[in-house]
Amino acid sequence: MDLLFSANAGILWPVCRFSYERSSTLENVDKLYPKLTEAVRKDHIEFDMVATGHDFDHTLQVKQTARVIAPDEYTGWIASAAAICHNADRLLEKRRGDVGRKKVPECEVVAMVLRWLNAGETFSEQEIVIILRAVQKHSGPNLADGDLVLMTLQDADRVVCSMPDVIMCATQFRPDLRAIHPKWLTCDPNNPTNPYRDPQSVLHSMECWYDWADPNNSKFCVRLPRARVLMEENVAFLRMYIERIKTQRAKIDLYPDYPVETA
Ligand SMILES: [Fe+2]
Repeated sequence: MDLLFSANAGILWPVCRFSYERSSTLENVDKLYPKLTEAVRKDHIEFDMVATGHDFDHTLQVKQTARVIAPDEYTGWIASAAAICHNADRLLEKRRGDVGRKKVPECEVVAMVLRWLNAGETFSEQEIVIILRAVQKHSGPNLADGDLVLMTLQDADRVVCSMPDVIMCATQFRPDLRAIHPKWLTCDPNNPTNPYRDPQSVLHSMECWYDWADPNNSKFCVRLPRARVLMEENVAFLRMYIERIKTQRAKIDLYPDYPVETA
C-alpha cells in the first residue's frame, strides 16, 4: 500500500494545502464529510449497489457506528471517513460481475478511494495513508499492528453486519444459499466446529456473529468497549430469533427431527 501511495503522491499533495474545519458536536454527525458522502452515495447508484446487503445504507450505518464506538473523537472522524469508503472493493466487484472481492486489483480500490477523498473535504497525507490502510484491511482478522482507525472500522462493520435488520439482508449477502436448512437448523454435523465456514444455509452463515462476540477464541472479535456492548445485544437477539424458529417448528413437529431428506 505504501508503494501505491507513493505512486499517487502527485494526486495526494494538493489536498493538503488547506486545514479542514471539523465540528466537534454530535448533532453534526450526519453532516460529517457531506461531499465525500455524496460522491460515495452517487457511486453506489452508478455501480448498481442497491438491492444488495452492501448498499449505501450499509455504508452509512458503518460510518455512523464508527463515530459512536470510536475510542476518541479524532479516531471517530478518521474512521468515519474510512467507513464511507469501505465498500470500494464491493462496488468494483459488482462492476466486474461479482467475481469475488479478492480478484479486484488493489490499485483500483486505491484509485477509487482517492477519488472520493478528493471530492471536496481535505485530509492530510498521514490521514489518507491511515484511511487507505483501514479500507484495504477491514475485512481481515484483527491485527497485532492494527491502528485505532482500522480497529474502529473493523468493529463498526461487524456491529452493523450483526444488527437485527441483517437477518433479512443476509439472504442478499448469500443468494447462493437456502435461507434455512430444515434438517440442520443450527448445527451442521459435517462441519460442527466451524459451521459458517461452509454454511448449509443463510442461518448457518450468520453464526459468524458468535465469533465477533467471542474475545477468547476468535481473531474477529470486536474490541472497543462500546462495540462489545452493541455486539452482545445483537448476538442475544440472534439467539432469541433462532430459539423462536425452533419453537415454531417444534409446534408443527418439524423440529428437532425432520421427517424427510432434503437436497
Ligand atoms: Fe461493510
